Amino acid sequence: MQPAFVEVRELSASDVDRIEADEPAGKGFVREMWRLQMLGRSMLLVAWVGDVPVGSGQLDLSAAPIELKNLNVRPDRRGQGVGTALVVAAEAWMCAHGHTRLSLGVAVDNPAARRLYERLGYVATGETSTVTYDYVDAEGRACTATETDESLVKVWNATVADAPARETTYLSGDGRSRERA
Ligand SMILES: CC(C)(COP(=O)(O)OP(=O)(O)OC[C@H]1O[C@@H](n2cnc3c(N)ncnc32)[C@H](O)[C@@H]1OP(=O)(O)O)[C@@H](O)C(=O)NCCC(=O)NCCS
Repeated sequence: MQPAFVEVRELSASDVDRIEADEPAGKGFVREMWRLQMLGRSMLLVAWVGDVPVGSGQLDLSAAPIELKNLNVRPDRRGQGVGTALVVAAEAWMCAHGHTRLSLGVAVDNPAARRLYERLGYVATGETSTVTYDYVDAEGRACTATETDESLVKVWNATVADAPARETTYLSGDGRSRERA
């Protein structure tokens, strides 16, 4: 499939109902993300193709250091650069807010995601953690999963030419285009 123009922007109040309409019943993900965002604990970056939400990634602002979590692209939109656009937008958001590193965890049995992160410059730290979490699957069933994640990190110097996402136009939550400095 030809890649479509993807716009990544911060979750806003007016997006919540639209995104929720595509979620399985009872998932409650985007509403929880909005609640946390309103508390200043989180920022959800959402990728759109036209008026269709095709993926998202959460910056967990309450983690120290800040972590990129819950990166997810609609199955029928994978392999078209949406995941890359979300990670690049997350880095641009971090840069714009004065941060020079971003951490994330990737499941040890998820080589596809790991390859994406490594291609974008993330480096394994060797630190692992095992977490058990509840989620609602695509059919609306409540599930519990346990996974072991390895922590990856990318560090950049905002003043040098190789800072991430330098050329990226990042569309902010208020709809105005903003070039990262
Ligand atoms: C992991 C995930 C987020 C990646 O999203 P994605 O949109 O498929 O990512 P991209 O398209 O940017 O990159 C995936 C591959 O497609 C390739 N690709 C990117 N743009 C492309 C295009 N226009 N045409 C063809 N291939 C393309 C990339 O080169 C990349 O290949 P590589 O990483 O194997 O080298 C997605 O697979 C997903 O949601 N998985 C389920 C949830 C998950 O595992 N999340 C990660 C948790 S840590």
